Amino acid sequence: MKFFVDTADTAAIRELNDAGLINGVTTNPSLIAKSGRDFKEVIKEICDITPDPVSAEVASLEYDGMIAEGEHLAKIAKNVVIKLPLTLNGLKATKYFHDKGIATNVTLCFSANQALLAAKAGATYISPFIGRLDDINLDGMELIENIRTIYDNYQFDTQILAASIRSANHVTQAALVGADVATIPPDVIKKLASHPLTDKGIEGFLKDWAGTGQSIL
Ligand code: E4P
Repeated sequence: MKFFVDTADTAAIRELNDAGLINGVTTNPSLIAKSGRDFKEVIKEICDITPDPVSAEVASLEYDGMIAEGEHLAKIAKNVVIKLPLTLNGLKATKYFHDKGIATNVTLCFSANQALLAAKAGATYISPFIGRLDDINLDGMELIENIRTIYDNYQFDTQILAASIRSANHVTQAALVGADVATIPPDVIKKLASHPLTDKGIEGFLKDWAGTGQSIL
């Protein structure tokens, strides 16, 4: 499973990219607003950090507006992925960009039927939002599982990008049910590396090593 980082914080992206922990980046209008920076400047900076896919979301809800904004964003760098909302206009724009060979990420997916439509429109990625479904007492992971089954039944090559991930457990579950990618906040990616028994083990080994009086170098 690939890991994308879900943030517009370029320092965090650089750190995780340097550590070899990520295979791409997703942003959304809320994350851009949180950064307090110019949208296109942030996307350009991210694309300078990594050649991997970088999702940049359109703001228009009209088909013509989506096309104009998407084409503008696609010119920033070759690895920009146009993020489009799962609406009829968004699906139509997905087909347009698919036909032009421009990658798309269809976002705000909350049902298997929406995912089926996105695949039929030629989406590169579909983003089902796990956390937001869990928030309203539905089962986000069950949606990922259903989409996996449907895409496999019909050999759709749209990649399932598990989004709205809130915990390390979400990452494990998404991997178990076969999501192709998980887009994860930076703090959750870092948490994946920690385990209390690892910390305890290091402490014990270092104590015993100190007792030997040896040094490696
Ligand atoms: C995905 O592309 C979205 O940016 C993101 O995962 C949304 O997560 P949230 O529900 O925590 O805002």
